[in-house]
Amino acid sequence: AKTLKSGEFIGSLDCGTTSVRFMIFDKYANIIAQHQLEFPQYFPNPGWHDHDAEEIQEHADMCIQHAMKELEKAGWTKESVKVIGITNQRETTVAWSRKTGKPLCKAIVWTDSRTKNTVAHFEKKLEETGIEVKPGEWKKGKDGVEALREITGLPLSTYFSAIKLRWMIDHYPDVAAAHESDDLLFGTIESWVLYNLVGGQPTNLHVCEVTNASRTLLLNTTTLQFEPCLLAFFGFRSSILPKIVSSSEVYGHVSADCCGGYLSGVPIGGLAGDQQAALIGNKCLTAGEAKCTYGTGAFLLFCTGGEIVKSEHGLLSTIAYQAGPNAKPVYALEGSISVAGSAVKWLRDTMGFIKNAADVNTLAAKETDNGGVYFVTAFSGLLAPYWDSGAGGLIIGISQYTNPAHIARATLEANAFQTRAIIESMKLDSGNDLRHLKVDGGMTNGELAMSVLADIGGFTVVRPEMRESTALGSALLAGAALKLFGWDLADPKTLSEVNTKGTTEFKPSMAEDVRAKKWEGWQRAVERSKGWEKG
Ligand code: G3P
Repeated sequence: AKTLKSGEFIGSLDCGTTSVRFMIFDKYANIIAQHQLEFPQYFPNPGWHDHDAEEIQEHADMCIQHAMKELEKAGWTKESVKVIGITNQRETTVAWSRKTGKPLCKAIVWTDSRTKNTVAHFEKKLEETGIEVKPGEWKKGKDGVEALREITGLPLSTYFSAIKLRWMIDHYPDVAAAHESDDLLFGTIESWVLYNLVGGQPTNLHVCEVTNASRTLLLNTTTLQFEPCLLAFFGFRSSILPKIVSSSEVYGHVSADCCGGYLSGVPIGGLAGDQQAALIGNKCLTAGEAKCTYGTGAFLLFCTGGEIVKSEHGLLSTIAYQAGPNAKPVYALEGSISVAGSAVKWLRDTMGFIKNAADVNTLAAKETDNGGVYFVTAFSGLLAPYWDSGAGGLIIGISQYTNPAHIARATLEANAFQTRAIIESMKLDSGNDLRHLKVDGGMTNGELAMSVLADIGGFTVVRPEMRESTALGSALLAGAALKLFGWDLADPKTLSEVNTKGTTEFKPSMAEDVRAKKWEGWQRAVERSKGWEKG
């Protein structure tokens, strides 16, 4: 048998919406080994989207084992992995039992919109009773909405975890009973995956990382603690809550019983929501830097440094990262688009227009324009900057002339229009006009998709050659927790050797009047999509 070499690598477990991946990086962000597995999606009713939390865990476990075998095949010992980080789809809500360590129901995924009536209930409560922000001090109506936004940076929406958890307690008797008897543990995906990687129920390590916590609608983004007045507003007992932890510290060590023993005893040193991880992976660590990741959905994050910028134009104020338990948080403005790659998946799997996701570019290239067709991809309402959970998905402008290539082009354009809408809001909120946008994620592999983005957006699109930014971001957080390779997020210079492979730029080439006409068409289409479902 050949002798394996020892190295110094970092593992990154990316638990996304449709797949889990484990990537192993060296200090320059070269990928030494990797594996990816898709896991089942459940759509039991219109608007519903479930995951089985145990399946996510099993897939993560298998994925790590496969990647570790790859690492050994490449000639390295398993001990070369010094630390791992976890990054995850955000907002997706898991409810499990303290006693058994098992989920009490399916996890409700971030895209799910079954909770429209729950949102309506809390809107009414905000209007009529309000929130008791301090003993005896109630804020209601517009002041209540403002108070909620002031504390959490978020609006009331089906998107965030508190609403999903309330729905679970109201509709699943087992969850309600566990809540009553203090057996319920609430968590986002990183909470659940970490809990299991360190050994599950016997350890009961129940934590939530701060960027993920900032998506629950329960976190006070200034104190970085769950806010008692919001627990009261949503009717949750405090026993359900995880402990909040920073994005970069050692939370625990991988149990010998997980992952075929491959990572036994390896520290877990980084946790972050996937969009924040991508921001870090793109090295957008200081105020004024932005990236957009085009995965299942698309998420544009603009770093605002130590300042919480409150949006007046439909963006979220969110936590970008906290570099250690005593570090000050760094904030971001975010524009979230719920459907990006999932629209391409729909063209492929449901409509049968294409065989592979990448073919959307080839199909769209058969036409030079959209033939007057606009596709508002509101599969489960619209998020930023429109925030309309009743918006209906719509393809408009169809005629006898329309063919699949027009629809494919309209799908690529839908991403670009929504990105532009977010950038317009960001300009109004921050006064900063983005002339360059860093991008990553599966959809950015398409050359046409990127040119369409630059043309419709009117800005330069900057695409790194190595664009596994989400996984890289979580590796940077994990490495920094151990000060491996001298990495320190507070000092971006220490990351100067990381991912220096270069970038490709896509510059806008569309005539200004054509761009303006298209933008006007998109806005009219969105107006028609709004309020389609009446709840
Ligand atoms: O907010 C949801 C987001 O974190 C999901 O990301 O990459 O799984 O689409 P992704």
